[in-house]
Amino acid sequence: MKLDYVTIFGEYFTPLSLSLVGKAAESGIIEIGVHDLREWTTDLHRTVDDTPVGGGAGMVMKPEPWGLALDDLLADSEGRICLIIPTPSGVPFTQAEAVELSGYDRLIFACGRYEGIDARVHEYARTLVEVREISLGDYVLNGGEVAALAMTEAIVRLLPGVVGNPESLEEESHSGALESLLEYPVYTKPASWRGMDVPEVLLSGHHAKIAQWRREQAENITQQRRPDLLKKKN
Ligand code: ADE
Repeated sequence: MKLDYVTIFGEYFTPLSLSLVGKAAESGIIEIGVHDLREWTTDLHRTVDDTPVGGGAGMVMKPEPWGLALDDLLADSEGRICLIIPTPSGVPFTQAEAVELSGYDRLIFACGRYEGIDARVHEYARTLVEVREISLGDYVLNGGEVAALAMTEAIVRLLPGVVGNPESLEEESHSGALESLLEYPVYTKPASWRGMDVPEVLLSGHHAKIAQWRREQAENITQQRRPDLLKKKN
């Protein structure tokens, strides 16, 4: 999978060389390109923003550099491509969305700053490629970079060969066997630590009982923390 990031803060993406995503890049499962939007500016000051037409606070990203960036990046556009625009007004990012996006050949993240990117860029992009405007959650970040990083990690770990044991993807919150339940609590050795014991059933070796206990725990935790997920299920 090819992953491109268009940004005015390329340094945000240095963590992509770490951990599982870094290893996926080293082994060729993914290829990463970080692009400075200012490369596509044409004025001396390399301007990327301007005041909002109609008034209001803050600045809006100018359409011209974005248009040139998209033209260049999409000039070689083989395979299934999606342009992702992280924005608090997008559709919520979910595990299902991560699974879908993991099936693309190329993802391009357009990371806006300030009050966002001129709306005509979104409209223009849709004439070239599939576009998804996606929000990480109901809060406002300073720009799309952190959201793009979070989405990248959620997507890349689903690619074959990235997570060592694919079974560990199966029993996670929001996915696989747990469907829309949150994950049950997990323990490792020692069996007793600072006066707290690992639940007896987990030491029993009785697989069916362990599975049932984990299911109940997942249901209880989901009921307490995210009752909306249970409603969605029923
Ligand atoms: N940019 C600013 N806030 C954001 C959010 N919540 N999700 C995605 N992109 C953003």
